Amino acid sequence: MNKYWVYIVLVACCVEVVVYGCNRAPQEVANAPENTFTVKGSVREMDLNPAPPPAFPEHDGRTEFISYCAICHSLKYISTQPDFPQKTWEAEVNKMIGKYHAPIDSVTAKKIVTYLVAVKGKK
Ligand code: HEC
Repeated sequence: MNKYWVYIVLVACCVEVVVYGCNRAPQEVANAPENTFTVKGSVREMDLNPAPPPAFPEHDGRTEFISYCAICHSLKYISTQPDFPQKTWEAEVNKMIGKYHAPIDSVTAKKIVTYLVAVKGKK
């Protein structure tokens, strides 16, 4: 008789775990940011979310900025900064070139600084 109750409790525990697990999983998915993927053959291409590109308005130097400043990191490194005076942007761009070896020539670097001052410069 004693053993019988042990089995009942064990089975109840398993049912509990399964039911709880089944109930919980959809909630976690529902709370997670929505990730979508497309199936191409056996490859699943992920569209990672949240992935809205940071807003950088059209202005001279934008192409250079977008091309070079996203080589190593997200443009969010820049969009999350406060507005800086020209000196600070120059120092930042020079740091990327000097310290981290960003492959940016001096003419392009100037264009990028001009762009940064125009769209995220301290007025
Ligand atoms: C060769 C790689 C590389 C390139 C290209 C690059 N960066 Fe960086 N950047 C880094 C690294 C490495 C860090 C530091 C990352 C960390 O500390 O998490 C960084 C950090 C930053 C930061 C955060 C503040 C700081 O000084 O750490 C800013 C702002 C930034 N980069 C701006 C730029 C801009 C503007 C450009 C384009 C001119 C650029 N980056 C291009 C490598 C690069």
